[in-house]
Amino acid sequence: MKMLYLDHAASTPLAPEVLEAMMPFLTEHYGNPTSLHQAGRASRRAIDTARAEVAELIGAEPFQIVFTGGGTAANNLAIKGVAESRKSHGRHIITSTIEHPAILNACRWLETQGFEVSYIDVDQYAQLDPEDIKNVLRDDTILVSLMLGNNEVGTLQPLADIGQILKDHPAYFHTDAVQAIGHLPIDVDELGVDLLSLTGHKFYGPKGVGALFVREGIELDPILHGGGQERNLRSGTENIAGIVGLGAAAKLGRETMSETQSRITTLRDRLISETLSQIEGSHLLGHPTERLPGSVSLAFEDLMGESLLLKLDMEGICVSTGSACSSGHMDPSHVLVAMGLSNELGNGSVRITLGRSTTDQDIDRVLDILPDAVDQVRKMAF
Ligand SMILES: Cc1ncc(COP(=O)(O)O)c(C=O)c1O
Repeated sequence: MKMLYLDHAASTPLAPEVLEAMMPFLTEHYGNPTSLHQAGRASRRAIDTARAEVAELIGAEPFQIVFTGGGTAANNLAIKGVAESRKSHGRHIITSTIEHPAILNACRWLETQGFEVSYIDVDQYAQLDPEDIKNVLRDDTILVSLMLGNNEVGTLQPLADIGQILKDHPAYFHTDAVQAIGHLPIDVDELGVDLLSLTGHKFYGPKGVGALFVREGIELDPILHGGGQERNLRSGTENIAGIVGLGAAAKLGRETMSETQSRITTLRDRLISETLSQIEGSHLLGHPTERLPGSVSLAFEDLMGESLLLKLDMEGICVSTGSACSSGHMDPSHVLVAMGLSNELGNGSVRITLGRSTTDQDIDRVLDILPDAVDQVRKMAF
């Protein structure tokens, strides 16, 4: 049975073009980019090229890109780096209740260090109201960090509107754009952000490498101290193969985005509408239209998402759930709780995320299997 991978929000496969670009830097080009000799210079050039590619993908300048060890590292650098550099101006931070743990746990840690964090609530679609940000902004607010596209339910946030509100406020504006980069056209100026996190493995690049966009003039302290690489913001010998892969993924993303985006959106909408019409007691989670192109998040009444995941896995289809086992019982994720979903429906949630290789036939196969799978799992529950 051929595996059908529909968990692209968790990770994407490495694109063949990306692997090809990386290979020489895993084999013959091993010079340290800080070395002045030709081997070192070859590595430095490759990093420069990748930096330009990543910058172009998000409408930035190459010098504004800092390579990191992935999305978590970029988020931690943004949150802790700003907190440290701006603490003499204030100790108040604004974020939302639906952020990735790489933001939430960094903020929680800062609370133990004397910072105050406001967690803004979302509506039933997991969307923020820009007015709520305006209402909690204070003179001592130093940072606002809000994600662009939610990893669990796919909802996109009105960041450009929030950027307008923050335009005349000294607080820095950071976004975790990990799920959107490479899939949607993103321009840091249009969003009005000062800092933006991205990671390679969510758009067909390698794992363990990402970047933080840092606008000119933004004061940021490093969280790693060492040899001063990446403008002293991320010390440590560069992961050259990874960075080259990130650059190649950025180039590929830019070149294929518009075609992929519209094709995937059409497949997504077909999967949503046919599931909702074919399966009684099924609900779409997240915003009906303002959502990531490949993201389908569903909740089914009278079943456990985990059981459905395992059933689909037996049929060769890889998806994920929106609940996790903690202290022996299932709990809906913090995102589903923030949306006001009942425990029962939250526990019946399943996330299906499409990718570049997903075809019409793949959607047919899901639609062929899903109704029976739901039926069988429901029967098992009683
Ligand atoms: C929204 C979001 N932010 C951050 C991360 C973390 O990225 P990484 O796995 O590269 O550390 C993820 C990955 O799951 C994510 O979905």
